[in-house]
Amino acid sequence: MCGIIGYLGGQEATPILMDSLKRLEYRGYDSAGVAVLETPRPGSLIRTSVTKSEAKVDDLITKLKAGMPSGHLGIGHTRWATHGKPTYINAHPHTDCKGQIYVVHNGIIENFAELRRELQAKGHEFTSETDTEVVPHLIEAYYKGDFLAAVRAALKRLNGAYAMAMFSTEDPDLLVGARLNAPLVVGLGDDEYYIASDITAIIPYTKRVLVLGEGEVAAVTPLGAEVSTLDGTTVKPKLVHVDWDVSQAQKGGYPHFMLKEIHEAPEAVANAMRGRLTDDGVVSFREFSPADEDLARLREVLLLGMGTSRHAAVLGELAIEDWAGIHARAVDAAEFRYRRPTFGRDALAVVITQSGETADTLAGMRLAKDREALTVAVTNVFASSAARDADGAIYLHSGPEIGVASTKTYLAHVVSLYLLAMRLATAHGRVSLERKQELVASLRELPDQVRGILEREKEIASLAHKYSRYRSFLYTGRGFGFPVALEGALKLKEISYIHAEGVSGGELKHGPIAMLDKNFPVVAICTAGATSEKMVNSVHEIVARDAPVLALVTEGDTSLDGVATDLFTIPRTEEAAAAILNSVVLQLFAYHVAVELGQNVDQPRNLAKSVTVE
Ligand code: F6R
Repeated sequence: MCGIIGYLGGQEATPILMDSLKRLEYRGYDSAGVAVLETPRPGSLIRTSVTKSEAKVDDLITKLKAGMPSGHLGIGHTRWATHGKPTYINAHPHTDCKGQIYVVHNGIIENFAELRRELQAKGHEFTSETDTEVVPHLIEAYYKGDFLAAVRAALKRLNGAYAMAMFSTEDPDLLVGARLNAPLVVGLGDDEYYIASDITAIIPYTKRVLVLGEGEVAAVTPLGAEVSTLDGTTVKPKLVHVDWDVSQAQKGGYPHFMLKEIHEAPEAVANAMRGRLTDDGVVSFREFSPADEDLARLREVLLLGMGTSRHAAVLGELAIEDWAGIHARAVDAAEFRYRRPTFGRDALAVVITQSGETADTLAGMRLAKDREALTVAVTNVFASSAARDADGAIYLHSGPEIGVASTKTYLAHVVSLYLLAMRLATAHGRVSLERKQELVASLRELPDQVRGILEREKEIASLAHKYSRYRSFLYTGRGFGFPVALEGALKLKEISYIHAEGVSGGELKHGPIAMLDKNFPVVAICTAGATSEKMVNSVHEIVARDAPVLALVTEGDTSLDGVATDLFTIPRTEEAAAAILNSVVLQLFAYHVAVELGQNVDQPRNLAKSVTVE
């Protein structure tokens, strides 16, 4: 996500903001900006200096140095575009009609479109395409002489996720921070205060940090920082002493970006659904909104991707076929681009690419466009090539992924494809309301269930410790468990360099079983589903060949007790939702095996984050 910094204290704010924004660069961003409340010269009015750049922080710094604003209160932001292109106008801070209120924001305001309409009807004028801009206008609408009260009233109207820093020229000694579903901390210096989305931003300045809770607001003045709820009830915030260096802080205290990103899975899963799904399974995507009739005429869905994204595509294929009843096929984009196409205008090509820049996937999309298929990119990067060139885009909203191996974005891809499957199911008049409600309920449970898995990391680490001595693995599953097996094997091989293959449970007997012996373990996805009994049979066959088995099973299922060598249980849920939970287990397993072996998990040899060549 974006980066936020705010400062209030005795020093000049601008150099601190510039320095902090530099330190937030590692998160990835497309534009940056600062607003500084200038110390008024004798006889002149208080004013705010705003400087923005649609390029890098260095460009912003060059602009700031040319006319350094002098003041003791300011906010800064690095933007990772979500709503609106990465342009100068869309860069933060955003302001109200009178230019008195300044806001920087991370996250997604789900109901911004209706708020914008409401405010426009009252005469507010908007200049950007962002969701953020509704915030200063909403505060302006509620302002009756008390900035903090207006902020609280405005925040109560917002749905979604936010971390914000803001100030008003009307209250020049007050810096306000607020958060909901996005992190924000207040750094305590000596008579000076910082607000930051990421401890990295403030690490050289202070080690004492207040961690804001959900729905809390921090009011920072020269006298101190007070934290309260949206209703104004004072709360005692958690004071933490952070003894990290910059590299540790960037990783949020985790030893690797990959582990940090696996731990961001609950938010990634929630963000992929945020504002897009009702309890009755009505799905809407802001940047992909064909009419029901246009979706109803589709006869085929092609899901194009490479590597991990192709595995997400296979899960999408299963959901689309099962829920929407449309012929769907997940394809290796590199192969697809050289095949003789048979599809045409009644096909939807779903282009699955986290980076939005994978050369083979883009080439596959071009072929689909040549055949006049409808195209939609499912991507994490706003205005990436895939997003620009496709007819529509479904953004993952996962925030930047720095570890080379995809983890949280894979989960967000899968959730997005499930939503797309529901959207298609509605257009095709498939799936009863009750069934949709069941599916939605299981998707909504996922963030908490993923949290539950992450809390059991030690259990997974100890399994990884036990299995890390083997040099070859087979991963197997059926139905929604099969792509999970493919992805589990890929994750293990790419970061630990151990040979691992994913095969379907049915395929096992047709060749791969020949390899099995006591030195060739199998990871078997046996969680509840249409074919789980078949998987239990497969495990018996594997065990009969003396191969150690690590089985993923559903809580309460005892069919493999005393059969599999090791069991890891996951909560009972829909088969499609279990694919997410099982994948998180296998991501952590691969991570801990690689760490046991001392590998460079964040930058595995021979791999690049974005493969922009064929
Ligand atoms: C594996 C991994 C790769 C990518 C693949 C496609 O962890 O990250 O297999 O999934 O290179 O990348 P995107 O999704 O950017 O098109």
